[in-house]
Amino acid sequence: MKYTVNYENKIKSLLKEKKYKYYIDTMGCALNENDSMKYNGILSKMGMTKTDDINNANVILFNTCSIRENAEDKLYGRLGTLKKRKLKDNELYICVVGCMTQQKHVIDKIKKSYRFVDVLLGTHSMHNFAKSLYLAMKEKQKIVEYVEDKKELVENIPIIYDEGVKASVSIIYGCNNFCSYCIVPYVRGREKSRLPDDIIKDIRYLAKSGYKEITLLGQNVNSYGNDFRKQDVEELKEYNFVKLLKEIDKIKGVEIIKFMSPHPKDFSDELIEYINENPKISRQIHLPLQSGSTSILKSMNRKYTKEEYLELVRKMKEKISDVSFSTDIIVGFPGETEEDFLETLDVVKKVNFSQIYMFIYSIRKGTVAEKMENQIDEKIKSERLERLKKLFEDTINSENEAYIGKTFNILIEGKSKNNENMYTGRTSSNKVVVFTANERDVGKIKKVKITKNNLWYLTGQIL
Ligand code: SAH
Ligand code: SF4
Ligand code: F3S
Repeated sequence: MKYTVNYENKIKSLLKEKKYKYYIDTMGCALNENDSMKYNGILSKMGMTKTDDINNANVILFNTCSIRENAEDKLYGRLGTLKKRKLKDNELYICVVGCMTQQKHVIDKIKKSYRFVDVLLGTHSMHNFAKSLYLAMKEKQKIVEYVEDKKELVENIPIIYDEGVKASVSIIYGCNNFCSYCIVPYVRGREKSRLPDDIIKDIRYLAKSGYKEITLLGQNVNSYGNDFRKQDVEELKEYNFVKLLKEIDKIKGVEIIKFMSPHPKDFSDELIEYINENPKISRQIHLPLQSGSTSILKSMNRKYTKEEYLELVRKMKEKISDVSFSTDIIVGFPGETEEDFLETLDVVKKVNFSQIYMFIYSIRKGTVAEKMENQIDEKIKSERLERLKKLFEDTINSENEAYIGKTFNILIEGKSKNNENMYTGRTSSNKVVVFTANERDVGKIKKVKITKNNLWYLTGQIL
């Protein structure tokens, strides 16, 4: 289905000379950030301008995340602070979209406790956002839209990419895996791959506009295309993730290709071979582990064992030169014993991850793990998180030392946020490097020699 700009124009005429501003608050993962670029596109078509100051905005949009309880609490906190202002200002519209509002119990809670919210839309309703906001503005209606799942993807939604040299493109939506702890399959629906032509068109546009690094996004990127076979799309029967990567490789201007996240169970030999053949593909692979214990992995429904994960890593290290791994780990999943946790630490030691995103298990309503007995005590969870952190920091420190004196080709991404007057980029293994450079070097690839280890980043010097 193709999106057509329609209600955006109606809002434009409704607002007439009024200069409305909008503020977008994005929580959650890269997929949500990508969705927010579309909300940005839709809102700017209404003739409004973006502001970074929430106090200045007429339309406030919260794009929400449900992955853990603390993500959900963020929204409630922020809504709470807006109540007084909303009651006084009848030219303020508050919209809540994203993963939280794809759950009935959350919708009920917002409707009950935050009655002043104007628009509530689930993840399958972005194409109705303009219409909903229009009705909220014109008829002063409160709009709530919840659809179970949608059959068809909506293409052509206006999008404003973040400035810079890096851009992300969603290639597959939803998830079929139902890991027992995870809310995503419930709030994002079943896997739906975008058609290759639509993806290629977006990337061509980005490359032409000067973006050099493209990250392909999906909850499970390496399942890309599986749904084409189920739908019996004749010309796409053989199409898969590797074929897509091969087509992206042909696009002039794309210099670095990344993807996030692949599932270890779907990491094919064909993909491993192809990464090795194509130097444009980042050597930093995100390979979510979740736990190092086979029995916990089983109750998480991850569909691989500790040994299979380690074997995959071994094979990739052997076949792909300079490969490095980042990962996600959950501590304190129901039933996790000290022995199980030690298995996780063992995998961390063996793989030598370059980055670990660590999470304390959070009960999610409606998931299989919610009902599991042996929920772990909060104190034990926190203590395990600290031990994992400590092990990781020690590993990073010793690994960083080995970078000193070495030279890497680095894409200069822009000014460093934390180091004044310095610029930043990443090694092919994804280590952040900070160095002195000129503004005109941004977007160029330069040789940088590493001079210092600062734990979470390295200092370097352009040669
Ligand atoms: N599709 C991706 C990532 C999904 S969400 C993947 O499979 O890797 C990002 C991470 O959040 C997950 O990898 C997992 O580590 C974490 N996560 C998901 N549900 C969680 C929960 N209930 N409690 C704590 N962490 C969770
Ligand atoms: Fe969640 Fe598992 Fe799907 Fe990732 S693969 S989104 S962790 S259910
Ligand atoms: Fe959160 Fe939804 Fe992403 S639950 S992690 S924003 S897919």
